[in-house]
Amino acid sequence: MKENEKELVDLDEEGNVTGEKIEKKPKKNDYTFKIIVTLIIIGIIVLAGILVYKQYNKMSHIELIVAEDYDEMSRKAANIIADLIKKNPNAILGLATGSTPVGTYNELIQKNKNKEISFQNVTTFNLDEYIDLDKNHPQSYYTFMYEHLFKNIDINLAKTHIPKGQGDSKLNVQNYENLLHNNKINLQILGVGRNGHIGFNEPGTPFDMGVHDVELHNKTIKDNARFFENDISKVPKKAITMGIRNILDSETIILMANGTNKADAIKYVMSHKVDVNIPVTALQIHKGKVYVIVDKKAASKL
Ligand code: F6R
Repeated sequence: MKENEKELVDLDEEGNVTGEKIEKKPKKNDYTFKIIVTLIIIGIIVLAGILVYKQYNKMSHIELIVAEDYDEMSRKAANIIADLIKKNPNAILGLATGSTPVGTYNELIQKNKNKEISFQNVTTFNLDEYIDLDKNHPQSYYTFMYEHLFKNIDINLAKTHIPKGQGDSKLNVQNYENLLHNNKINLQILGVGRNGHIGFNEPGTPFDMGVHDVELHNKTIKDNARFFENDISKVPKKAITMGIRNILDSETIILMANGTNKADAIKYVMSHKVDVNIPVTALQIHKGKVYVIVDKKAASKL
């Protein structure tokens, strides 16, 4: 402080003070002001950087794999599933129905026939089932899984689980929730609806919901009519499904999609924006690894 003052007063030849303080050194204040402003700007830039990093880091668990076509998508997904089973022969898999995973199931059947993997100790839990559709109806998810996978591999059927769509709904929901509570899914396979649904979790389903019954949306009923002789009246209107909470509880997720009609859903899941009206965006807040494996058409809006 004293040093500063000396510089600000008038001195005679011998160095005595002769006058009042002359002028304050304006540069000093200017520098302080400039330094403060610079620090504030740097602070803002660093803060913005942290926010952007955090936002993008939310997605760092999502690995996007764009395959040439449906077959390559199916092979890539099957290889990840096979690697898990090789590492952990007691793996617990979450399975989906629909057209998307059929190619993957075929690849897995091949790998089982080649003795590359065995399903003997694997346990499975399916995502969903129609309500009030006979278990043995050709379009029940029970029949679907049996025909497309279980009957063709060495799995122990007692270790396969599909939610019950017949009987006491409340009890069925509770039983499946309990089963999932006691069995942590290592790898969940998902397809996605055009409206972004996963399982039968339609837009607006809270992300913290567990197993529950649902009324299917018109869009989903229309999409599924192709499996019921294109007759909407034959499509079941209700289903029992794992909730998004159950899906997010799994360690790893593989989301698959092919075709241009899935391009919007894939754009949303990769959008860095979590939206309860687009259920698939919940994968952005998954705690584990998520593989998004799509063909070029489903990736066309990225
Ligand atoms: C089926 C399921 C559904 C389907 C979705 C896409 O178990 O959970 O969410 O994954 O409707 O169906 P596909 O694959 O037929 O386009």
